[in-house]
Amino acid sequence: MKALIIGCNGLLGQNLLLTRPSSTWEVFGAGLEKAPGHPALLSGYQSVDISRREDLDATIKAVAPDWIFNAAAITDVDLCERDPALAGLINRDTVGWMADHRIPMVHVSTDYVFDGEAGPYLEDAPTRPLSVYGSTKLESERLVLSRSGRSLIVRTMTLWGRGKGAKTSFVDFVRDSLKAGKTIRIVTDQWGNATLAEDLALGIWNLVEGGHAGVFHVAGSEWNSRFEWAQAIADHYGLDRGLIQSCLTADLKQAARRPLKSGLRTDKLTAATGFRPRNIAGQIRRMDELSQSIT
Ligand SMILES: NC(=O)c1ccc[n+]([C@@H]2O[C@H](COP(=O)([O-])OP(=O)(O)OC[C@H]3O[C@@H](n4cnc5c(N)ncnc54)[C@H](OP(=O)(O)O)[C@@H]3O)[C@@H](O)[C@H]2O)c1
Repeated sequence: MKALIIGCNGLLGQNLLLTRPSSTWEVFGAGLEKAPGHPALLSGYQSVDISRREDLDATIKAVAPDWIFNAAAITDVDLCERDPALAGLINRDTVGWMADHRIPMVHVSTDYVFDGEAGPYLEDAPTRPLSVYGSTKLESERLVLSRSGRSLIVRTMTLWGRGKGAKTSFVDFVRDSLKAGKTIRIVTDQWGNATLAEDLALGIWNLVEGGHAGVFHVAGSEWNSRFEWAQAIADHYGLDRGLIQSCLTADLKQAARRPLKSGLRTDKLTAATGFRPRNIAGQIRRMDELSQSIT
């Protein structure tokens, strides 16, 4: 089987490559960069700006994949709020162009499709995005599902992990700040499931290889507040949790509204595949193990 991973240099894209079942899949990549981050893991790479439809179409035609994995997106939710045209173009329109090829797709979406009043959510819970990011991702889900009955929408949240050039993760930020004796302010009113990018990638491969279609949630198995997550990081590294001060989301004056009581339930994923993503302690242990190999 031939896969094309679009956005193969992002956090999820890299983890999809690193976890690919190499005996059954030939994997091609595409991304904005001139050269890929992991050339040895790819059968081929196309440098492409997906906002140019003709270039995106040419890339898909040249590779002629059996599956498209879309890991490309604008993930800065405040940027999306300030620039809805860009968010609409990358997070919705380009997804529709990919889906127009009628090739089965894995498209990655978000808990921001929910309003955060009643999380953690099952896949069929009513959606009500509060932000431009959430709205464009929900619209993209509908585009994909309307084009191919074999496609997968995989919703995830609060992704972290390591990859070449990846931005500093929340875990690194908390650990490094506390190690340096710095006080940090963390919100107590945002709830959800921290998710290791490697687990998201493994969940996706399990779903594809199992022949599943439709909407699935893939997220870490522990539901707590961002503040409790920071405390768990402090405890894991034996650092002073007294340096973590509480604040509220409203104090941060961010452009995009966040779903507060959010979270994703993964019962459907585990029932379908047997795969259960790690809890926070398991995620941190795994990243400690991997820290030498993915840098
Ligand atoms: N991160 C989270 O907490 C989170 C939470 C829920 C859902 N998700 C979803 O999970 C998926 C993967 O997220 P991630 O965290 O892996 O994102 P990421 O690390 O920001 O990667 C996104 C990739 O998209 C690429 N991209 C953006 N615009 C492009 C363009 N015009 N042409 C080609 N490539 C372009 C980026 O390239 P450059 O790096 O060169 O810009 C980057 O490699 C996304 O669909 C996101 O919405 C993420």
